[in-house]
Amino acid sequence: MDIPVTILILAAGLGTRMKSKKAKVLHRAGGRTLVEHVVETALTLAPAQRVIAVVGHQAGQVQAALDGSGVRFVEQSEQKGTGDAVLACRGAAGQNQGLVVVLYGDCPLLRPETLRELVDHQQSSPAAATILTTRLDDPTGYGRIVRGADDGIEAIVEQKAATPEQLAIREVNPAIYCLRADLLWKHIGEIQPDNPAGEYYLTDIVAIFRRAGYRIDTVFHSEAQELLGINTRIELAQADRALRERTAARLMLDGVTIEKPETVTIDAGVRVGRDSVVEPFAQILGSTLIGEECRIGACSIVQDSVLGDRVVVGPFTIVGASQLEDDVHAGPFARLRMGNHVEAGARVGNFVELKKTRLGAGSKASHLAYLGDAVIGAKANIGAGTITCNYDGQHKHPTRIGDGAFIGSNSTLVATVEIGEKSYVGAGSVITDNVPNEALALGRGRQVNKPGWVTERLKSRRP
Ligand code: UD1
Ligand code: CA
Repeated sequence: MDIPVTILILAAGLGTRMKSKKAKVLHRAGGRTLVEHVVETALTLAPAQRVIAVVGHQAGQVQAALDGSGVRFVEQSEQKGTGDAVLACRGAAGQNQGLVVVLYGDCPLLRPETLRELVDHQQSSPAAATILTTRLDDPTGYGRIVRGADDGIEAIVEQKAATPEQLAIREVNPAIYCLRADLLWKHIGEIQPDNPAGEYYLTDIVAIFRRAGYRIDTVFHSEAQELLGINTRIELAQADRALRERTAARLMLDGVTIEKPETVTIDAGVRVGRDSVVEPFAQILGSTLIGEECRIGACSIVQDSVLGDRVVVGPFTIVGASQLEDDVHAGPFARLRMGNHVEAGARVGNFVELKKTRLGAGSKASHLAYLGDAVIGAKANIGAGTITCNYDGQHKHPTRIGDGAFIGSNSTLVATVEIGEKSYVGAGSVITDNVPNEALALGRGRQVNKPGWVTERLKSRRP
């Protein structure tokens, strides 16, 4: 039987090296905040009520980012170091039995399998703790793993406190630990801030355990990149790239074609159906769901949207918080701003903007239009240059266009207004009154031709 595991996630620091007003763990990589990634991994191992996030800097925002995850929070009022952050959890962790896993909120690439391996090792070992280690060509900034004569781990020495010989050690501490709860809580108070930084270093627990005569195991993990801790924006960019590579790889293995996958930006929460194609430099963001056999064009951006099957989003098209049913074509160069519902088979062409608009099945707005707060029926044709004038400077007003209506090019529909089913609006009309079903509406000046006007004009100018 599995021993109960409590997971502590340290996320109270500001992250000075980010040079940001925003707490480090709130910076985003792969479409999520750093701390969300860590929590997601933690939740594969323990139920939410056994996961505790330590918050401090911008505690409210960090808690908001984790809202809905169900994890618990402990506030560390002053950031006195990672040892102090763990100590702050002693009361909330409660149980003095089982295991405590400590993770840092700035380690977003850690995989569930790796964490599982560490915990499995500890569960089957008589050791007091098991610590993950890795090797880096450039260990700068990381705690160094100091081994004794028997090759066992003796201490973790922080960069700032290390001797020149210790600085040369390339085996480092990625800060992923699994400890016996009873021993951790017994000894955590012994950590002293006796180092150049004056901080309570959690890493000192290793030397404290060794002095108490306990055994500490290490599990070596060769894929160092997965254990990257984010301290600077350069590392943030590395994590972002790695997370997006993972997402792209997952999608490709699930049957999605991605052209030049190194150029696309796909968030971790995105789902794409089989035989869909993602063209270079596309961005698919947030909670977007895409069906099968779709095509997401080059340089397009699709955010928080739901696309059915066989939907084509042409190049340079922007789709935000919208629903596109099966067989919709949008773009190239279209902008579906937000709250749109494009029904099956409808087309939205180049330089067409939609906002909070429903475009009925099979309807077409093929070129150069603004359709805002409009409800358009099925099989309507919206001519080039059609504008719904939905805003009077204070309020937004709706436009309704019935099934099968034909709106001539360059029409101006001054809302609130309703165009009846199968009716026609003559090109260039300004429509301010409702149009009945099956009528023709003309709202424009009548053309006047003046034959011979130019000849007369020239004659009258001669001396
Ligand atoms: C830490 C480790 C180092 C390890 C490295 C791996 C210590 C003393 N050092 O160094 O051995 O190689 O991570 O990435 O643990 N935090 C709090 N409260 C605090 C201080 C920090 O919650 O008082 C949180 C931060 O928000 C952050 C995490 O702990 O998420 C780590 O803090 P950070 O300052 O980044 O530690 P490192 O210097 O990277
Ligand atoms: Ca760090």
